[in-house]
Amino acid sequence: MLTSHEIRKRFLDFFASERHVVLDSASLVTEDASGDTDATLFNTAGMQPLIPYLLGKEHPEGRRLASSQKCVRTTDLEDVGDATHATFFEMLGNWSLGDYFKQDAIRWSWEFLTNKDKGLGLDSSRLYVTVFAGNDSVERDDEAANIWKQYVPEHRIYYLDSRSNWWKAGDNSPAGPSTEMFYDVTGELGDMSHEEFLRADKEQKVVEIWNDVFMVYKLKGGEVEGMLPQKNVDTGAGLERVTAVVQGATSIYETDIYEHLLARISAATPHLDALRPKRIVADHIRTAVFLVGDGIKPSNTDRGYVLRRIIRRMVNNMNILEMNCDITELIDIVIEKYGQVYLNLDKKKDIIIAVISQEVLKYKKTLERGKKEFQKLAQKNNTRITGQELAILEQTHGFPAELSLDLAEEFGVRIEPHAFDEYKKLTEQHQKKSRAGAEQKFKGGLAGNSEMEIRYHTATHLLHQALRDVLGNHVMQKGSNITPERMRSDFSHNNKMTDEEIHRVEFIVNEKIQEGLSVSFQTVSLEEAQNSGALGLFEDRYEDRLDLYQIGSGDGMYSLEICGGPHVSNTKELGVFKIIKEEALGSGVRRIKAVLS
Ligand code: ALA
Repeated sequence: MLTSHEIRKRFLDFFASERHVVLDSASLVTEDASGDTDATLFNTAGMQPLIPYLLGKEHPEGRRLASSQKCVRTTDLEDVGDATHATFFEMLGNWSLGDYFKQDAIRWSWEFLTNKDKGLGLDSSRLYVTVFAGNDSVERDDEAANIWKQYVPEHRIYYLDSRSNWWKAGDNSPAGPSTEMFYDVTGELGDMSHEEFLRADKEQKVVEIWNDVFMVYKLKGGEVEGMLPQKNVDTGAGLERVTAVVQGATSIYETDIYEHLLARISAATPHLDALRPKRIVADHIRTAVFLVGDGIKPSNTDRGYVLRRIIRRMVNNMNILEMNCDITELIDIVIEKYGQVYLNLDKKKDIIIAVISQEVLKYKKTLERGKKEFQKLAQKNNTRITGQELAILEQTHGFPAELSLDLAEEFGVRIEPHAFDEYKKLTEQHQKKSRAGAEQKFKGGLAGNSEMEIRYHTATHLLHQALRDVLGNHVMQKGSNITPERMRSDFSHNNKMTDEEIHRVEFIVNEKIQEGLSVSFQTVSLEEAQNSGALGLFEDRYEDRLDLYQIGSGDGMYSLEICGGPHVSNTKELGVFKIIKEEALGSGVRRIKAVLS
């Protein structure tokens, strides 16, 4: 039986032998597509990184391409855990950029699916095909149907409308009619009428395994605007589904892909039949590993928020399962499985473990605290939770309102009818206030413009990074205050710094000063700033564009931090840095006073 790794390899080898250049998977993170209304946070199909080339740009590797592309889709989050849905998947695909067209695309799809030696050797009597039935602007795809008749009995070719057989990446994207291949997973269906086929699809007795799109149109606002400069083929086959079919599994979760993960999860829970939560945990940890591997960190916006939600949902399901298993073990299993295919995972193993474990821990603490508060509230007013209480839970206890809604059910507590709207209004007001506060703080703190203050300002960035180098990456800036005479920096750290640590920090800062590093900045979006891994008080940021200050460049880059400036242009201008005091400010927060001379 072919394993998923072998299937991926066979696919790529097959198309390589047909003179396709095999591309590495692009990152899950989409290229910056600012201004593009169709932009997605992650690659959700193999064609996405190729859009410019489908539109006509020349691809450096030629006109025949193939890849196995990492994808994340969260639109079907609620379906995850059924037979066919996952948030992370790999999409096998082959492309013609104005090279071959329907005849070859269909022939190769058929050959790969059915050929025993070079392909998957699937039973051809279990395959069905759909083609585009046409609409007002595009004609019925008889051409594709006629080609298919060389391989499949005519009555197994179904014409379906644009809800099924029209593919687009967005409303302003390349698009075209598609032909899809389905496999009978029961082995019992035989010939089916149109209606029987539709029912079998709904009941997941047939599963779509491959989609060939004949991408020749350009859409604008969802409508066909005209033809592309070239006739393209864009195909996509979900590796998980194909593997399930090849391995005769009843769901993607019964394949070698999830085997070890699910075995470990099952061993860690007393709930033997809780199939769905187990699958959700397996899917979500895999997704989290790949997302962090591609540089995403949990946050409250965009990509980071998707990751945060995935991790939280995973923890919720681990709780349902009462799982007793270190998250690191699950991460290890995923990396073990994919480390050879996606080399970044092995390289970034430590970061992946640290980021996910920290987020899990943080969320568990939030849950515990929140549950206690929630319980108190529930007992206190044993009537209904109000919007204000939802807001307090969130703002004071870090307990998200959506979770309160979930917990309400668990605690048998009712929520006021308009509580969520009220909560939203209150949250907006709160944000406005803290924004004003942040601006105020900024004026009083960092924005002094005398020459000396500017120097201290740059030194603050160096100090911040040096503290992390010496004490660890848990160090976060908590506050800063600068006068022409001295700088003051508050940061998170639990212990008093030893003399040795203080000297090391001083040494590093002075070393960086002597190296004469250039200081530069670029203006980026909040999301870009977060994805860059830059330091800074993101919580206080509401602007769309931020200045990202960089000290040193290229391999010699020492610090990257968001900040409003101004700064010196070279660290040489700073002089000599000395820490004059290190003291406790509050629990887990320390304060350093330092001078430049
Ligand atoms: N782009 C097509 C899909 O994702 C092939 O199904």
